[in-house]
Parts: sequence; C-alpha cells; structure tokens
Amino acid sequence: MDLSTVAGLAIAGLAGWLTYRAATTGYRYYKATPQQRLRIRHAWWVRRRWNKLSANVGLVRIDENTKGRKGMNGKAVKPTTVRPRIKVIPEPYGLRVIVRTIAGVGQAEFERAAQWLADAWICDSVEVHRVTPGTLELRCLVGNPLDERREYDWPQAGDWRLPIGHNPWGRQISVPLRQLSGIKVAGLPGYGKTFLMLGWLASLAHAGGPLVQFALFDGKSSDPRYGDWGEVGQRALFLVGDNPETAHQRLTELVRLVKDRPGRLVAERGHPQFWKQGPTFENPLVLVLMDECHNYVDSSGLRGKEKELIESNQRLMRVLAKEGRGLGVIPVLATQKQTGDAIPTAVRDNLEVGISFACFTLEGAEAALGSGIRKDEPNWPTALVDKDRNVGVCVVTGVPGLDGQYDRVRVGDIEEDLVLEVVGSSFGDRREIIPAEGPTLRKVTDEPSQSTTGSAAPAGASDPQPKAPPKPRRASRKTAADNDQDDRKAG
Ligand SMILES: Nc1ncnc2c1ncn2[C@@H]1O[C@H](COP(=O)(O)OP(=O)(O)OP(=O)(O)O)[C@@H](O)[C@H]1O
Ligand SMILES: [Mg+2]
Repeated sequence: MDLSTVAGLAIAGLAGWLTYRAATTGYRYYKATPQQRLRIRHAWWVRRRWNKLSANVGLVRIDENTKGRKGMNGKAVKPTTVRPRIKVIPEPYGLRVIVRTIAGVGQAEFERAAQWLADAWICDSVEVHRVTPGTLELRCLVGNPLDERREYDWPQAGDWRLPIGHNPWGRQISVPLRQLSGIKVAGLPGYGKTFLMLGWLASLAHAGGPLVQFALFDGKSSDPRYGDWGEVGQRALFLVGDNPETAHQRLTELVRLVKDRPGRLVAERGHPQFWKQGPTFENPLVLVLMDECHNYVDSSGLRGKEKELIESNQRLMRVLAKEGRGLGVIPVLATQKQTGDAIPTAVRDNLEVGISFACFTLEGAEAALGSGIRKDEPNWPTALVDKDRNVGVCVVTGVPGLDGQYDRVRVGDIEEDLVLEVVGSSFGDRREIIPAEGPTLRKVTDEPSQSTTGSAAPAGASDPQPKAPPKPRRASRKTAADNDQDDRKAG
C-alpha cells in the first residue's frame, strides 16, 4: 500500500467518524425538549470558550520543558500552554463538567476559580468535587433546583429504604435499611425533622405492613397523645413522652429485644443474620424513632440521680446503635439542640447516616454530619436558615453514592393527611414483640442501667394498645400513648 492510499484511508476514516458524531449529536438535539436544547446549547457554548477562559482565570500552565526552545530556523519558539481537558455534559439543572487535571492545576485551583467560572458560564454556583485521582467534577447549577418541590417518593412493598427527596441533580436520595446502624437528624425548630420521620413511619407502615414495628419517643411532649406523634401512636409498640425515666424503661425493653433476637433468629432461620432473609412476621424490622432525643440522652448540666439516669439511657442507646444493625433494630435520633453534645459521641459515632436541616452554627450541624462538614462550605447547613426557601431542605451524609461526602436534598412534599391516612389504615399491623423478662435474659442484658432502675413490664402487659383492625385516623388521639401515661404513673 503506497502512502497516498494510507492517507486516503485515514482521511476517509476521520470523515466517517466526524459524520457519525455530527449525526448522533444532531439526533440527540432533535429529540430533546426545548429545555434540554437550551442546556445542550449552553454546554456547547461553555466548551467553545474554554481555551480562552482557562487562560484568563489562571487555569493553565506554561510547560517549563518547552521554555527557551528554538525552531528549525533558529528563532525562539513560544513555550507550550497546557490546559486541563474538559467534557461538558448538559443536565436538567445546569451543567456537569468533567475535568482532567494537569500538574499544578488541580482541585484547589478550580475551587479558587469557582466563582469566576460561575460568572463566566452564567451559572448560579459551581461546586468542585474530586471524583478519582486526576479527575474533577464541576457541578454548575443554574437557578436553585432545591426550590422545586416534588412529591414524596413512596416506597413499594418490600422496598426496604427510607426516602428523603431529590438532590440538586434531581436524583432521588434514600437511605437503604439493609445493614443500617442508624440515623441522626439535627436542625433548628420548624425546618422539617419531625415531618421527615413521620414520612418514614408512613413509608414503612405502607411498604412493610406487619413486617415492621415502631417504637416512638416524643421528647417534646409531656403528654404525647397531644404531641406531633399522637395521631400515629397507635401503630407503635409504645409512644413515650418527655419523661426520661419512662424512656429508660422502654429503652431497656428494646435492648432486651436486641439481646433476645439472635436466639429467635436462629430458631426461625437456623442462623442469626437478620438481613440475609430480611424482616418476617416472627422477626419484624423495628424502627426506633426518637424525636428531640436530647431530652433522654443529653446529660449536660445535670447532677446526681438525674445524671445517672441520662447516662444509663446513653448506654442503652449505644447498645441499640451498636448491636441493632445486624438484628433489624434501627434507631433514628433527632434533635433541635444546637450543641455538639446533643447526641453523645459514643452514640452518634455508631449511627452511619447523618442529616442536618438549617443550623445557626456548624457545631450544631456537626452533631449529625460529623466534623468533615467544616471543610465543605457549599454544603454548610448554616446557609439554609432562610425559612421562606429552606423548610424541608437538608444536608445528608452516609447514604450510598455520596462516598462519605455531603449533598443537599429537598425532602419530598409530605402531606400530613395522607400520612395519617396511611398509618391509620395500618393500626392492625401492630404486634407485641418485646420479649418478656426471663431469668436467662438477665445474664446477657448486663447493662449497668438495668440493675439501677429495674425494668419495665413487658410492653404487652402495660400497654392497653388495641389490636383492632384499621380505624379512622383521627380517632386515635384518645388512645395513642396511653401507655406513657400509665408508665409515668407507675414510675
Ligand atoms: N417535607 C415536608 N413536606 C411538607 N411540609 C413540610 C415538610 N417539612 C416541613 N414541613 C412544614 O414545616 C413545618 C415544621 O416541620 P416539623 O414539625 O417537621 O419541624 P421540626 O424540625 O420537627 O421542628 P421542631 O424542632 O420544633 O419539632 C411542618 O408543620 C410543615 O408544615
Ligand atoms: Mg419536631
């Protein structure tokens, strides 16, 4: 084959490839909606301007090896300018730019230039994330997608997850329940902590039926029948008010359940792994929802007996957080307290998922998100205090896909009436599952707390919870949480 034939073939190959690219791009553009076309044109425009812009915002480097070079004619040749290669991907909410870094121009340089890039690309914000060594992802948002409200993403039967909402890229974020150790939720009053947890209660009541049981702690109400959880209390094993002593009795029961569970699992399945087979009627999933948990586990400022009681609650919580994961008992702790000790470190370190709604200080956010949030300024929950816009917007960590990083999420719209209807229709699914205290169990439940206050009677004995089929939802007000009343009288 002579040289001209090879050149001809190369040109033909190149022309074919360019035609193919043009055809696929044209077809994609043709099929796109007007909004998508706008984004596609935006992406082309950004890509076209990159060579000039990168030099102007200092995201290029002069190759030192090419300095002082001379051409064939002996004249000095301009040194080579190296710039990161970019790929611009149109997204519904803006652009995603994949960057191949070069020596001397990496994550820190892009973070410094982020504001300039946002202005030049006509985006509201540019966030820089390191995806792999040598690859960055720039998320360029147009407008605030978190302003958009969406429907709550109800899970289907057997779909073991707790939905949260959508992130700035429109992706639905959920917490998978399999092997989950627990969740901590922080945030200022009135931004949506309780609503999110009510949504979870309704989701699982709907998707799990009798395979899910609930334990409810309402740390804000002295009479929980009239608190945020009153109308759904009848679906739960018990509903405890703000009395730490009653909470202690109930936590003791939950720990007894955890300690008893391996034996029950082996008896049922021949092995003690809960998630291998998942929740069953015999061994249901237990979601422990503890709203305003600082009332039960924050010992700061307390002394004497009160302090002992709270510390004892902390120990019981720690057992739930540490041992519940593989046994299908999942604690969810929420607090509005804006200090780091609202959830004791020993407990919070064992809860892998963190969610924080708006906070005034980073210390408040750290209770749920850990200290890593300090380094991630774009995701600081302190930027969410504008109540007109950010009720229901939170920062999450520990969910799959985030790789230990943080993301903002708008919780799906939760209709209170629908929640009450769904939960109300599942009241009949509530079952007694707390094992009675027995001599063999005393040996394993050797938590110091149990010996200090004694233990509560089995839930079934003290809870006059009706086992009637579903009732009209609001009718539950009178009967929900009556166990708490009884317990307090007993205590
Ligand atoms: N996901 C949501 N969908 C619809 N409305 C919501 C949502 N989240 C919050 N809201 C609205 O915000 C109000 C306050 O929410 P919520 O009671 O959950 O706050 P909170 O953080 O638990 O406050 P506190 O700490 O005082 O208990 C709700 O009454 C509701 O109107
Ligand atoms: Mg609340």
